[in-house]
Amino acid sequence: MKQAKSQILIIFGASGDLTKRKLLPALFELYKQKLLPEKFAVLGASRSGLSDEDFRKRADEFLPESDEVEAFKQKLYYQSVQNNSSEDFKPLKTRLEKLTSELDIDENFIFYLSTPPSLYSVIPKLLDEVGLSKSEKFFRRLIVEKPFGNNLETAKELNIQLLNYFAEDQIYRIDHYLGKETVQNMLVTRFSNGIFEPLWNRRYIERVEITSAESLGVEDRGGYYDHSGALRDMIQNHLLQVTGFVAMEPPVVVEANAIRNEILKVFQSLKPIQENEVQRHVIRGQYMASKIKGEDVKGYRDESGVDRLSRTETFVALKFFIDNWRWAGVPFLIRTGKKLPTRVTEIVITFKKVPHHLFDSHGQVQTHNQLIIRIQPDEGILFKFGMKTPGAGFKVQNVNMDFHYSDLADAKVPAAYERLLHDCMIGDATLYARGDAVERAWEFVQPILNAWQSNPEIPIYGYPAGTWGPEEAENLVTHGNWRYPCKNLTNDGLYCEL
Ligand code: BG6
Repeated sequence: MKQAKSQILIIFGASGDLTKRKLLPALFELYKQKLLPEKFAVLGASRSGLSDEDFRKRADEFLPESDEVEAFKQKLYYQSVQNNSSEDFKPLKTRLEKLTSELDIDENFIFYLSTPPSLYSVIPKLLDEVGLSKSEKFFRRLIVEKPFGNNLETAKELNIQLLNYFAEDQIYRIDHYLGKETVQNMLVTRFSNGIFEPLWNRRYIERVEITSAESLGVEDRGGYYDHSGALRDMIQNHLLQVTGFVAMEPPVVVEANAIRNEILKVFQSLKPIQENEVQRHVIRGQYMASKIKGEDVKGYRDESGVDRLSRTETFVALKFFIDNWRWAGVPFLIRTGKKLPTRVTEIVITFKKVPHHLFDSHGQVQTHNQLIIRIQPDEGILFKFGMKTPGAGFKVQNVNMDFHYSDLADAKVPAAYERLLHDCMIGDATLYARGDAVERAWEFVQPILNAWQSNPEIPIYGYPAGTWGPEEAENLVTHGNWRYPCKNLTNDGLYCEL
């Protein structure tokens, strides 16, 4: 494995939630696994006036108590930074000079933007103005959190603005789904086994489903979510990137641009959903108040920060096609939603049935082979196939063959941010989204957003919290049904079993 060079990670928005919940725990894990460079520091930066000690204390909340934590925390520093003009960035620059010299760290810097999106173009500009965006001798990288734009136009503008100050190979657009172990395993499953690739096409595959269900609602993010909605929040980025991994052609090498070129080609082949097709191909919904396991649950419009008349979707299901030789005619079905019966993300590949139904005369349902790649939780792979029921005749029964990551001796599945932060530290952008692909993904979803905005007749279906979303989503699947890994939770007594 490539060794990370000595460097400083500067986190803008360090007093925020992401730093505490995801970034510091991921860095601590890397520290424990000795994957951080020996000479390394984190410099938290935000407007709050904290000391190094305050910042270290805040880290405690999400880190276990141990001697290792104490040692790790010594690598954390804090600098309060305003962002009105380049003058405001001078103290940051001075602090970096001081840290690099005191700690004998090279001037390799990663700037992580974990701030409100309104600062995504401001901070790179100020970094550039104080001479921190480029260096002849050392690397300067910029990690940009989502959302990357709010629509096609703003995404393009943001790309232009960032490229004014940083080159494309310095920019790391994070999509934490690509950091998930099982999403990467998609590449290994497909391209290291001889048996799948010959079947991985329109001749043998009937449909591809990708489901990302969450049992939580919008929690305390109503203010953000009400301006976003499920299409922007989950589909434009995470689930289209996952589609890229499922549908791509074999890359020539496992290297950032080789893989990202293949993802871009998938996005370029997405058959646009025209505005007048949106009503048929895209089903949107919003969760309503209901009872889950006997407890009252709020509807979306009653969540804090949400407009009482909101028409923001908390559920989307859509059907689309990829117009290329491999996938022509195969429906891709993607579904995501909040307040569904369980938290599960999985890819379901449904294979075509055999051409001649030998065993139909026995009144048996023909086997529909399915390969289920479980991204989370209980990461693993499940294969469903038909087997003869022992005994007289030829009765076929469907059976499962499964692999769970938890069965591996060294079973710890690393958190997405661990993998992604480490990749950026070693300069590997394979699992980061490239600017052209992000724009292409926006081009695909933009007509849907336009249709919803210009045509209020397109229904937004209510669905009771704890169910699998509007029943209308079922109509998107022409033969068969979506896979339901567990039942609705609104009927007392029905629990979810994965
Ligand atoms: C985030 C979305 O990007 O992904 C959230 O903004 C969503 O709304 C989250 O809950 C889901 O991520 P994960 O890793 O929990 O599946």
